[in-house]
Amino acid sequence: MRAWQVTELGEPRDVLTLAEVPDPEPGPGQVLVRVLGAAANFPDVLMVRGGYQVRPPLPFTPGVELCGEVVTAGPGVTGFAPGDRVIGGPAMPTGAFAEMALMNANSILPAPDGLDDAEAAAFFITYQTGWFGLHRRARLAAGETLLVHAAAGGVGSGAVQLGKAAGARVIGVVGGARKAEVARDLGADVVIDRRSQDFVEVVKEVTGGRGADVVYDSVGGEAYARSTKCIAFEGRILVIGFAGGQISSAALNHALIKNYSIVGLHWGLYQTKMPELIGECHRQLTKLVAEGAIRPLVGERVGLEEVPGVLQRLADGDTVGRVVVTP
Ligand SMILES: NC(=O)c1ccc[n+]([C@@H]2O[C@H](COP(=O)([O-])OP(=O)(O)OC[C@H]3O[C@@H](n4cnc5c(N)ncnc54)[C@H](OP(=O)(O)O)[C@@H]3O)[C@@H](O)[C@H]2O)c1
Repeated sequence: MRAWQVTELGEPRDVLTLAEVPDPEPGPGQVLVRVLGAAANFPDVLMVRGGYQVRPPLPFTPGVELCGEVVTAGPGVTGFAPGDRVIGGPAMPTGAFAEMALMNANSILPAPDGLDDAEAAAFFITYQTGWFGLHRRARLAAGETLLVHAAAGGVGSGAVQLGKAAGARVIGVVGGARKAEVARDLGADVVIDRRSQDFVEVVKEVTGGRGADVVYDSVGGEAYARSTKCIAFEGRILVIGFAGGQISSAALNHALIKNYSIVGLHWGLYQTKMPELIGECHRQLTKLVAEGAIRPLVGERVGLEEVPGVLQRLADGDTVGRVVVTP
């Protein structure tokens, strides 16, 4: 089969090689799938650079989420039939940017019927992260104001939809006119172009000075620092990621004086610490799909050959929604 391989760490455009490799063999507890769609995520970029918390041994195939079709199950695995359409994270080092991948049977979820292969590929990490962040960690309530940074991006687009589905008023911050249009189409009530507007001023203005109750921050750096200037009394700032490249330090005296919470989220930890919640979250998300309340935004569908360019554009902040690779 064809698979992208990282043989040394670095920038995606420099270190990825499309290789012909043997089909992977499922071991005990594993399932072999044919990849129907692999969504590009920021963590793919970080993993290729060697800057992610998960560091597979070299060489590895990147790609942290997929929709696939079951080919065969390994020893001791029951409950899967060839042709089953499934989603989830592949078992590294056999990642999703390949024609076949291995998955751990206990982490596999059924692909929702209402989503095509590319949409289903983008339905795992983004929406699970949004659901755990907004509901379990930040306790977002109907009627509250949710501020989403990078609202036209991968996790941001999911957070906008989940915020609206929860009955919140959603303010989306984006970089540029094209992304502003995307955020509006996603359902954001207020859209702020960070390139031409000061989001702190706009958030204060549209909330009558109160600020945002919940901030979904996948950008970090200045986005985090400035969010503390427009967070509401008893607000919650969700620390989702650092796509901007800078990790801010929190001023705890400020959190005390303004009475807000800084809430971290490492969604992946729930897979080992509280795996039963992953399935429950998937059921609730699947219901929201069936109700038409959420649907992954697939910004582009590209061929397997395009992986390095796609990851580089994702790193540069040049993509909208999820770009999905369909081998
Ligand atoms: N905590 C968790 O469990 C969890 C789970 C999944 C993902 N994440 C994290 O969430 C973040 C977003 O991931 P994603 O795949 O959904 O990416 P993404 O949001 O699709 O892409 C990143 C976006 O960040 C914005 N951005 C602002 N400054 C940037 C800069 N200097 N360089 C690049 N982008 C910049 C850009 O949007 P604008 O131009 O519109 O600002 C860009 O489109 C990543 O840090 C990822 O690691 C965390």
